[in-house]
Amino acid sequence: MVRCHSRRWFACQRQTKMRHGLFITLEGIDGTGKSTQLRLLVQYLKKRGLPVRVTREPGGTRLGERIRKILLDSKNTHLSPLAELALMYAARAQHLEEVIRPALAKGQIVVSDRYNDASLAYQGHGRKLGVATVRAFDRIVSGRTQPDLTILLDLAPRLSLGRAVGRQSRRNSNQGRFELQGLNFHRRVRRGYLAIARKDPRRVKVVPAEGPVAEVHARILNLIDGFLAQRLTGYAPDSTWRKTE
Ligand code: TYD
Repeated sequence: MVRCHSRRWFACQRQTKMRHGLFITLEGIDGTGKSTQLRLLVQYLKKRGLPVRVTREPGGTRLGERIRKILLDSKNTHLSPLAELALMYAARAQHLEEVIRPALAKGQIVVSDRYNDASLAYQGHGRKLGVATVRAFDRIVSGRTQPDLTILLDLAPRLSLGRAVGRQSRRNSNQGRFELQGLNFHRRVRRGYLAIARKDPRRVKVVPAEGPVAEVHARILNLIDGFLAQRLTGYAPDSTWRKTE
């Protein structure tokens, strides 16, 4: 078996079967600790010498970040659900073109804080636009660029929402349009996410988000190591992280 060491990773991957990079997404309702877990995951992957490209949605590009401001601004109460969905996909189209597809073509590991499952869960289920409408946008915009692995952080909205709203008021910002939606909205979003995971269990892995940060991190690394060992020739899990628990 060919072993790819970090310093020669690009050259080595070109010689092995893997011609494209890997696309990993993190998802979950607001307040699951997703951003913290993403940071820890990226630290781990970089320590392993892997070429990681971190990004987020909505956003990820200059234009996308401007669209994000419109989407998250709680003053925009009149934004229609369909306009919201179209803006998510406008930002995504730009993101795919500028960031995701070029990085994958270079063989990088793209780690995105949210991607198209968020549209299915939030706009399809939360806003009740329906799965078919979201999928119609997705076919045109995302096409074949679908995640290889999705980590879904799962927590009851009763618990996550308190975290999300508290964080928002600490930031003293008015960018909490989604956090300000009621409990029922977030329940629908969660059910949406869990339905996606049930339909596609090979790709979407549900990780319980309760418990200490280190414990949740360890759950994620277990999945990531298994996934990378399958997809990267010569990848061996690093057992040292277990000692930090
Ligand atoms: P996120 O960056 O996770 O929020 P935070 O700044 O609190 O970390 O996501 C912003 C919000 O956008 C989140 O409430 C979910 C929502 N969203 C959608 O509704 N649909 C989408 O397609 C995406 C990508 C995000």
